[in-house]
Amino acid sequence: MTSLVTTIEEMNQISRQCAEDKKRIGFVPTMGALHEGHLKMMKQSVGENDVTVISVFVNPLQFGPNEDLAAYPRDIQTDMAKAETVGVDYIFYPSEQEMYPQWPTIEIKAGRLASVLEGEQRPGHFDGVVTVVNKLFNIVKPQQAYFGKKDAQQLAIVEQLVEDFNHPIKIVGIDTVRESDGLAKSSRNVYLSEAERIEAPHLYQSLKLAQRLYNQGERNSATLIAEAQNYIEQHTSGVVETVAVYSYPELVEQSKISGSIFISLAVKFSQARLIDNIIIES
Ligand code: PAJ
Repeated sequence: MTSLVTTIEEMNQISRQCAEDKKRIGFVPTMGALHEGHLKMMKQSVGENDVTVISVFVNPLQFGPNEDLAAYPRDIQTDMAKAETVGVDYIFYPSEQEMYPQWPTIEIKAGRLASVLEGEQRPGHFDGVVTVVNKLFNIVKPQQAYFGKKDAQQLAIVEQLVEDFNHPIKIVGIDTVRESDGLAKSSRNVYLSEAERIEAPHLYQSLKLAQRLYNQGERNSATLIAEAQNYIEQHTSGVVETVAVYSYPELVEQSKISGSIFISLAVKFSQARLIDNIIIES
């Protein structure tokens, strides 16, 4: 049975009870519109913890003024039904008023790790993410929390948050779940037109191309970037915003590759801005 929890007070009570009963809490924060990527994290949490809590909260703090806050897909009934199938115990589903009763609120600055890539393209985005994740960690008090490698920069920043703010929480990174044609599952894929949906798997193909070149010994980032960008431009109508090679998890731009890296891209379609990446361990 999956229960909906809408107040911080009730969530606190549940966490306190779990602590008394020595039950370990696994936590999966989301913005809802749940897909198989989210469900994979939930399944792993259910397998590894006594109690699994997910949150469904479209966090206004992490959306820029021209982003899709109002349009972001919301359907709590469907989300509940999906969460139930994988054995989630509680869905923390607060209102904006419950999370941010005083507006504007104090915000955490995500700092250096947020100065590149998505953070550079979306000013303030990661400040909003770490502010809400910090609150959610304090409210839910999990022992483990699950984040997707699809948002590799977010994962690196949350790891830093836990270290800097001394949260006694283990962060677990989950591999990206893809459609059978390679498109990374995303709540934003619904914004793609039919034609764009057919092109979109080429984003992953461009990353695979870069990975093949890397496997063949190419260590010059500019070459990998040019090949991937060229591939996207030839195979899709999307506008390439970013193709970049950064060290992971330090997020330092690499011209000559050594050590673990991630190749990251952001492409704008007519209504959807999609991101994807591959992490290559050294
Ligand atoms: P959201 O976009 O709903 O994603 C919730 C979690 O699901 C994130 O950790 C994300 O990386 C992961 N995820 C998304 N697509 C995935 C896929 N195809 N495979 C595996 N994991 C995937 O990320 C957020 O929400 C928010 O920023 C949040 C952390 C909830 C803070 O508001």
